[in-house]
Amino acid sequence: MNINEIAKLMVAKGKGILAADESTGTMTKRLDSVNIESNEENRLAFRHTLFTSKNFQNYISGVILYDETIRQKKNGKSIPEILREQKVLPGIKVDKGAKKLVGSDETVTEGLDGLRERLNEYYKLGARFAKWRGVYKISNEFPSNNSVVANAHALARYAALVQEAGMAPIVEPEVLMDGKHDIQKCYDVTSKVLEECMNQLRIAGIDFSGMVLKPNMILNGSESGIKNKKEQVAELTLKCVQNHLPSEIPGVAFLSGGQSEFEATENLNEINKQNKTSFAFTYSYGRALQQSALKTWAKNLKDTEAVQKVFDERSRMNSLAAKGEWKADLENAA
Ligand code: 13P
Repeated sequence: MNINEIAKLMVAKGKGILAADESTGTMTKRLDSVNIESNEENRLAFRHTLFTSKNFQNYISGVILYDETIRQKKNGKSIPEILREQKVLPGIKVDKGAKKLVGSDETVTEGLDGLRERLNEYYKLGARFAKWRGVYKISNEFPSNNSVVANAHALARYAALVQEAGMAPIVEPEVLMDGKHDIQKCYDVTSKVLEECMNQLRIAGIDFSGMVLKPNMILNGSESGIKNKKEQVAELTLKCVQNHLPSEIPGVAFLSGGQSEFEATENLNEINKQNKTSFAFTYSYGRALQQSALKTWAKNLKDTEAVQKVFDERSRMNSLAAKGEWKADLENAA
């Protein structure tokens, strides 16, 4: 499969990506929140339960794995093998996290050193796409030009190496929703961030037909006290993303970024209702796909069926939203 075929499969109609690539630190926070011990066995047990759910392949095109998970086995089979049997593409998070940017309270994502060798190993382990996340925060002074340029440059160098290794990069510039700013400020900052990302990707000679863009939606700051209106979120998100989208990109898969499961589905649905083109706008959610499943799992670690039912239902809602066919009264109707 070439990188264009991979990228197209990742954003196939009615399918999206499961971001199960929480680092051990982040996964420990998630498990702590439901009073479950974070150890290798439990991290695998929860993830394996999701990956083997009955309708997984109907709604999920690919899974972003973490380094620990791509090397794990269950009943003698590796996780990438299990995903392949489900006809789901294995992917891998390859950045090493957002680290302090010199001279600023902002971050730049690191992990370029030795990346070529790591990518070749991940390919052999079965990965066919990769992810790297740049993080930008909004305040009166942030993001600085330094953060916008440094993160875009790193994203472009990462994407070039991923394509060289025969995999499709997910390019994820995440403008955080934290802060008191309004939706217009989020629009302006995200525009600037996407503009610089596309600029750097072009300079690096990226083949846009073999990548997926993973941006944030355009939202009011989470401490602004302003309630998001789905029509406005969809309108501004579409405008912002479409203004910066090279026509060759096969699709966009949004991150959920701390929105509730309901909001992430509702906003994605509205984006697809307003989208007048055949272009694919789908999901690459972490929290907004896993939250309810994690809570269900924590009640009884052995009740695989209950967890899978909750996960399948959440994925089904997002699959409908990716086609603009979701309705609020479908929630909990099952
Ligand atoms: P959320 O959907 O929870 O924001 O996670 C997506 C992701 O991959 C963050 O890097």
